[in-house]
Amino acid sequence: MGFKEEIERRRTFAIISHPDAGKTTLTEKLLLFGGAIQVAGAVKSNKIKKTATSDFMEIEKQRGISVATSVMGFEYRDLQVNILDTPGHKDFAEDTYRTLTAVDSVIVVIDVAKGVEAQTEKLVEVCRMRDTPVIVFVNKLDRDGKDGVELLDEIELKLKLNVCPLSWPIGMGPDFKGVYNIYESKLNLFSPHGKQTTEEVLQITDLSDPLLDEHIPERLARELREEVEIIEGVYPSFDKEAYLAGKQSPVFFGSAINNFGVKELLDCFVEIAPTPRPGNTEEREVLPTEDKFSGFVFKIHANIDPKHRDRIAFVRICSGMFERNKNYLHVRADKKLKFSNPTSFMAAKKSIVDVAYPGDIIGLYDSGKFKIGDTLTEGEKLHFKGIPSFSPEQFRYIVNADPLKAKQLAKGIDQLMDEGVAQLFQQVMTNRKIIGTVGALQFEVIQYRLEHEYGAKCKYEPVSLHKACWLSAEDPAKLKEFITKKKRHMGIDKQGKDVFLAESAWMLNMAKQDFPEVEFHFKSEM
Ligand code: G4P
Repeated sequence: MGFKEEIERRRTFAIISHPDAGKTTLTEKLLLFGGAIQVAGAVKSNKIKKTATSDFMEIEKQRGISVATSVMGFEYRDLQVNILDTPGHKDFAEDTYRTLTAVDSVIVVIDVAKGVEAQTEKLVEVCRMRDTPVIVFVNKLDRDGKDGVELLDEIELKLKLNVCPLSWPIGMGPDFKGVYNIYESKLNLFSPHGKQTTEEVLQITDLSDPLLDEHIPERLARELREEVEIIEGVYPSFDKEAYLAGKQSPVFFGSAINNFGVKELLDCFVEIAPTPRPGNTEEREVLPTEDKFSGFVFKIHANIDPKHRDRIAFVRICSGMFERNKNYLHVRADKKLKFSNPTSFMAAKKSIVDVAYPGDIIGLYDSGKFKIGDTLTEGEKLHFKGIPSFSPEQFRYIVNADPLKAKQLAKGIDQLMDEGVAQLFQQVMTNRKIIGTVGALQFEVIQYRLEHEYGAKCKYEPVSLHKACWLSAEDPAKLKEFITKKKRHMGIDKQGKDVFLAESAWMLNMAKQDFPEVEFHFKSEM
């Protein structure tokens, strides 16, 4: 197969959801369809979300096992499908934001009863920023939930997606009879038999087909006809170009646990989902079909063996062909590196790869050279854009608790921040270090890892902060004036950028009022 064909057959995506909506279940069902796993229950890496902190530490120790499930690849209808796993726990949302920079599209899972939840809003916002094509899967139709039209309204309002339903539920909860596949005029009938669910698919001409009345109770058939008439009047028909531009989102309904609606989702996905998209660098746009290899690190997975501080850097290949044992330029360090055992992740198993193509994710063993966002090329000095840091939600001072281990602590903090575990800000006036995280769990993870991997001890002290804001202004003099005036509230992030550390929403508003020329951003890339 030629280079171009290899690119054309790749579909790299992530499944995202609020915890408990059914992301793990859906992932697993897709892997079953793709033949990547043989039994349900194989994808357990996400289960940390439900466990208590102490269990989390235990699971951390076993992370070596779960590395393989960070990327799951399988072949389906001659296509190479790569699913990137995202952490289920909300405290690891930042990890998910970064993973979204390495995919070409996403599937968003929504619980029919809960509707759009907070975590989903934030994740979809990141997709919108990047015009990532989004497919929505409304899950758990075997349970009572919100009315379909109400849900579509909610998705449009809260997720700001232009929806286009491609299937429509028939009944719900105990009355759930299946879905009508609007896209292909098919009736998918749901019949639960204890734990075994069967799905019968009937081709119908249109909704006036009497076959419908033979299989569905009169009330539900009437409701289906009425509702589909309404939605066909209200929503535009499916437009693949609009979907690929991130401007329209197809919606499917189903029940992942019952395997219902999953195959339709996968079949439609492989037909419409984008092939590897061009990448943006500070210098220029990089096309997947370019001869020369380029890629960037979007995730670093550490602690595979705590004694050796082994890490795996996950690299998304953006252009050209990656080859084992070939010299590549690590642009930030300006050093040539070669990799003798790059890993790919097919069928949830790790294996050494000799070559990899745009859209693929490879794992490179790393002894601490890489940082999130690093670029690898064949020599060109490119810097991939679009891996922003977001303002953390929680902040604490980090303090050395063992004066004899100051060096170890500094090194540990440095490396953990490179991995993207949390963000570090240094106050300009006091030089004190502040750790910012998305959730409280990370503080414990950092403390635990500093002790177990670096032999250093830290403690935290409270700091009252509302947001970290990155700054910009058309007039550099205005920015300088702001930074000088607000010196007491200024910090420096890990990249050396100036950050305004606002103590409260009120203080931030005052700063905005006093300095209308300065723009305040909640993310590091603008
Ligand atoms: P997540 O990764 O998004 O956090 O969700 P996950 O797949 O773990 O699913 C959360 C819970 O919802 C699980 O139940 C799962 O079995 C259930 N679930 C997933 N899809 C469906 C569905 O279509 N219908 C119904 N009724 N439930 C569904 P759990 O009891 O929390 O966990 P488990 O013991 O079943 O693993």
